[in-house]
Amino acid sequence: MKIPAIILAAAIGASGTLAYTPDAVIRGDLNGDGSLTSEDVSIMSSYVAGRTAFTAEQFAAADIDGNGRLNVYDLIRLRKNVFSHEGTLPSGTWVARTSSLTRYYTFSGGKCTCTNERTGASSELSCSAAGSTLTIDKETSDILWNSGENFVLRHADGSLENFTYYSSSPIDYAKCLTGNWYAKDGTGSIRCFNIRGVSGSVNGKPFVYKMNGSDFTFIFQDGTVSAAKMTRIDSMHFDMKWDSGRTERFTLRNISVKDGITYVNGILIANKSYSLPQSYDPGKILPEALSAFYTMQADAYKAGCNLWITSGYRSYSYQSSLYNQYAARDGYAKADTYSARPGYSEHQTGLAMDINVAGDSFGYSPESKWLAANCWKYGFIIRYPQGKQDITGYKYEPWHVRYLGKDLAKEVYDSGLSLEEFLCIDSKYKN
Ligand code: DAL
Ligand code: ZN
Repeated sequence: MKIPAIILAAAIGASGTLAYTPDAVIRGDLNGDGSLTSEDVSIMSSYVAGRTAFTAEQFAAADIDGNGRLNVYDLIRLRKNVFSHEGTLPSGTWVARTSSLTRYYTFSGGKCTCTNERTGASSELSCSAAGSTLTIDKETSDILWNSGENFVLRHADGSLENFTYYSSSPIDYAKCLTGNWYAKDGTGSIRCFNIRGVSGSVNGKPFVYKMNGSDFTFIFQDGTVSAAKMTRIDSMHFDMKWDSGRTERFTLRNISVKDGITYVNGILIANKSYSLPQSYDPGKILPEALSAFYTMQADAYKAGCNLWITSGYRSYSYQSSLYNQYAARDGYAKADTYSARPGYSEHQTGLAMDINVAGDSFGYSPESKWLAANCWKYGFIIRYPQGKQDITGYKYEPWHVRYLGKDLAKEVYDSGLSLEEFLCIDSKYKN
């Protein structure tokens, strides 16, 4: 839902601008010299008076209120940004972003507290403002005000840090929802929330949120606002009832590593992000998975489908020879789209199997259709689904199944997601 700016301002108690400005953009820099000065104001005055024309770039920079029109209101705001913040120290709490880091600053009486969003570590710094500069802990930067709720610091090395007003008081970190969460609704659909402090993302879409007791307001970059009421269940779970009527149960994602093997909420994972040690060697398909296969095979046979295992457990060294063979034939980049590097194959877990033919032709067989529709009943999933190569790391493999046990396989099947999406993890080699 896109809320008109005026209603939004009322909803979040702001004075008219959206409390989410992700990128450092200096508005009103019409002569392109990287600062806001009286010269920019006179360029703008001249345009508003009809004496000059603007390039498209200047037009975009001059549309201070972002309403697609340039008029005297933009001029008034530009004048205010240029003149009225001179020597003003910001007050309250601000979310500050560089290209690689988010921090929160709380300014009060010549001091500011800076908290790193990722680590939660805080430091007390001295700060002061003079003219159009801001000095934090002896480092002086140019301060460029875009509005009362957004300014950009240009540091001595030329890098930009974008500040967005958050609240008049410090952030209560104990109440923040920091962590990676699965949010599951009544239909079994899952969204992945990644939250640090008061910022985060859901399925990769960034937001900031505000808290007032159990009332939450999520503000997205595109201007969308969602309100929700939170009910805490325990340290690992809470429910969010959204204003849309939908309720999601949030479960904290927990990644643990034991003997070099990664478990995501108890599920053993082998993919491009999480490898297995060379020493991990079950030596065969694990008995529970094999017996599930035999049951599935018997039922498939009754339905006229003949299933067999063409590749089951593969040791680290066997995977190594397979991968190197493919890489020699197709090159490393191509081999990486269909073959796991040694230590990264699910076949090494003893929980994965290739059924019948490990090749594209299998996808057209009745067996493939039966497998896709029924394998979840026996505890298996099609591990590398169609259209999910960017997420699983591998092209579609209709023949490769992974044993998860019946309950979990059903949940993953019902969600329509790949295992990576279901567990809110990625699958990417580090190099
Ligand atoms: N073909 C799958 C991705 C493997 O090599 O394990
Ligand atoms: Zn396979």
